[in-house]
Amino acid sequence: MKISRRRAIALFGGGLVLAAAGTAAGFAATRTPNAAIAPWSPAAREADPRRRALSYAILAPNPHNRQPWLADLRQPDRIVIHRDSARNLPMTDPHDRQLTIGMGCFVELLAMAAAADGYAVDFAFFPEGESGPVAVATFGEGGKADPLFAHVLDRRSCKEPFEARAVAAASVAALSTHARIVDDAARVAELRELTWRAWEIEALTPRTYRESVELMRFGKAEIEASPDGIDLGGAFLEGMMAFGLLTREQQLDPSSMAFRQGVEIYRTMLAATPAYAVLTSPSNGRLDQVEAGRRWLRLNLATTGLGLALHPVSQALQEYAEMDGTRRQLHDLLAEPGQTVQMLGRLGYGPKPAPSPRWPVETRIVNG
Ligand SMILES: Cc1cc2nc3c(=O)[nH]c(=O)nc-3n(C[C@H](O)[C@H](O)[C@H](O)COP(=O)(O)O)c2cc1C
Repeated sequence: MKISRRRAIALFGGGLVLAAAGTAAGFAATRTPNAAIAPWSPAAREADPRRRALSYAILAPNPHNRQPWLADLRQPDRIVIHRDSARNLPMTDPHDRQLTIGMGCFVELLAMAAAADGYAVDFAFFPEGESGPVAVATFGEGGKADPLFAHVLDRRSCKEPFEARAVAAASVAALSTHARIVDDAARVAELRELTWRAWEIEALTPRTYRESVELMRFGKAEIEASPDGIDLGGAFLEGMMAFGLLTREQQLDPSSMAFRQGVEIYRTMLAATPAYAVLTSPSNGRLDQVEAGRRWLRLNLATTGLGLALHPVSQALQEYAEMDGTRRQLHDLLAEPGQTVQMLGRLGYGPKPAPSPRWPVETRIVNG
């Protein structure tokens, strides 16, 4: 989560911190985690087309930025794609549904990058069953660039309040080929309320909230050492850290001011939502989840191309006991009986955040 300076000042007040962090000459310029965002300049020079495609695929959205993908390059012209279970989210994603959606985003981006490079990719999904690789990708000739791929380096999950204006009707129409767009005022109001309640449940359930806090990276040094998880960076937040106003311990203590301010940031952000995008699937098998990820990736590229911001809000979709009632309500609102809501995202006009960290592509390649 990169909190914009404007919002942080509004929420934290922080005259002292602002004076220290904001005006210290040169400090701000040094706080960009350059190494952690270097993968956003993909390696066009790679000789192997599989590596070229992988250097884009690792930029896919994925839950908690766990980047659970591993690529085995031992067989020529093929990539055996695994999901790294060491990166599971047992509390908030107990059935690995969201992680599998993230793998779907990854394979779609891999295919698009290969196509832009002239290669067609043929996927065999779960060729050894669910406990084996997610896919075997075979590279062949004949790929054709997809116009959506032009937006790959500008795509973001925008975790910011959106402007108080409706999404243009032409954009709603264009996006409706990718997802169901909800912009009806009454339904939007219900979803704002429901996403907020779900966020509160996750934050006030100690084991689910702890899982997120343990994935927080506090400041540039931590972000560069582990370029994944929830990155808390930038000059303002680092200034707060320097003054002991933002620590892991405080984030874990619901009575601390830092925790309450974090809650306030999320409440304000979730309320500032003019529309939602929804993906449902007829059943909830692994292939449905991969397919939802592929669709989400394309939707996120399309929103980028239209100048719109998209932000997944998954709390109400999560499968643990405390969320059961809220998840059922969400399904009553958005799905037919038997369907699964796979993705719910805030949609609107927002700022363009800095890119989120990524592990370098070499670290995701095994047996290369
Ligand atoms: C299945 C899935 C679920 C996600 N759920 C959330 C969420 O509940 N809240 C959130 O802020 N971001 C969520 N995200 C977005 C990720 O946090 C984001 O993709 C990741 O941090 C990388 O950032 P980027 O998409 O800007 O590259 C989700 C992404 C995926 C694919």
